[in-house]
Amino acid sequence: MASNAPHLTARPGHPLRGTVRAPGDKSISHRSMILGAMASGVTEIDGLLEGDDVLATARAAEAFGAKVERLGGGRWRVTGRGGFQTPTGVIDCGNAGTGVRLLMGAAAGYPIAATFDGDASLRGRPMGRVTDHLTRMGATFAWSGKPGLLPATLTGGALHAIDHVQTVASAQVKSAILLAGLNASGTTSVSEPEKSRDHTERMLRAFGAVVDVEDQGEGWVIRLRGGQPLTGTTVSVPGDPSSAAFPLAAGLIVPGSEVTVEGVMLNPLRTGLFDTWLEMGADLTIANRRVSGGEDVGDITARHSPLQGVVVPESRAASMIDEYPILAATAAFAVGATVMRGVGEMRVKESDRIRLMVDGLRACGVGVDEEPEGFIVTGGAVPGGATVHTAHDHRIAMSHLVLGLAAAAPITVDEPDMIATSFPGFVEMMRALGGDLL
Ligand code: S3P
Repeated sequence: MASNAPHLTARPGHPLRGTVRAPGDKSISHRSMILGAMASGVTEIDGLLEGDDVLATARAAEAFGAKVERLGGGRWRVTGRGGFQTPTGVIDCGNAGTGVRLLMGAAAGYPIAATFDGDASLRGRPMGRVTDHLTRMGATFAWSGKPGLLPATLTGGALHAIDHVQTVASAQVKSAILLAGLNASGTTSVSEPEKSRDHTERMLRAFGAVVDVEDQGEGWVIRLRGGQPLTGTTVSVPGDPSSAAFPLAAGLIVPGSEVTVEGVMLNPLRTGLFDTWLEMGADLTIANRRVSGGEDVGDITARHSPLQGVVVPESRAASMIDEYPILAATAAFAVGATVMRGVGEMRVKESDRIRLMVDGLRACGVGVDEEPEGFIVTGGAVPGGATVHTAHDHRIAMSHLVLGLAAAAPITVDEPDMIATSFPGFVEMMRALGGDLL
């Protein structure tokens, strides 16, 4: 856990210096558990993110019939039965949208029933974007309360393939449909006008499935023939660029800082934030580029930099959708306006992230304009000196804490325990670099 304190305060005035290792990627960690449980045989996972979200998915994998063992820090073994069985209890996915949506897709392909639930935040997030398509494939969902919101009971099996055209680039929706398609009759296709992260496609291949990808420039069509068995494999989880973003951001905005984060995944469908920072004039260098676990990784160094506001291309949104909160925090120190549009999806994440960033930055004295599908941060001096409400959202909390390390006065966040959903060692890592968090 990040802290047992009801609040956490970041104080300015201390440069951050040093080298740290990025925690395991959350997207890949969820997928390794789920595919490991769907497969036959043993999957050995190294570098798993042991955050609350992924631990909930590990418990779900076990409930669906896999044997799940923790061998040591980040090292896990999942022994799959080549399919899911009906779980005895409710599948509680906690705060994890990725966990529940991918598990629903995976479970839909088997002739089983399962009830899914989550915390208050997850109960407020739209499930119809996944369950509508799984229903078209032949699954049924019974909603305990409002249709489209958890809790929900799925009855799966006897699915048929669909051709789905995405309206929003969402890897969660794509992945749920593909995982269901794996056990459907016929060939399932998902067309994306803009590419979303491709970890499911890559990992399905690593587990022995044939996944056909037709590149169409900006977008692509993914096709998957149903009935393909998965075989256990080894998964080496690369460092999460979405988590590395926080210490790197502190490196950029706290005077006198130089922070290196090692082992960061550089999959181009995840690195929109780094491209944006470079356009803003950030002193960001990538060294030791290599391939690890089927993904490009590198060591990234961020040095304190004068930043310039930019207009972030809307086409970049999918490659950095979780990074706009921390981009906004760094944009508060840039000269001029940083325009972030085409990011309406931020409103249906763990919180309404546009609203929460607008409220939090304003409380800290930063100029922000809110739009229905975006927001504009006008940089300059950041007074700080506020307590920010984070609505149970880990990234809202971490973004404001990083802001507080560079503001004129300390910034406090509520509910810091939520940070453990994605980045259990955040507070310790920032302190080890010299950041004052208490
Ligand atoms: C994820 C996809 C993104 C992202 C989430 C993780 C994934 O959501 O926000 O944190 O692992 O597939 P959408 O696909 O809904 O945009």
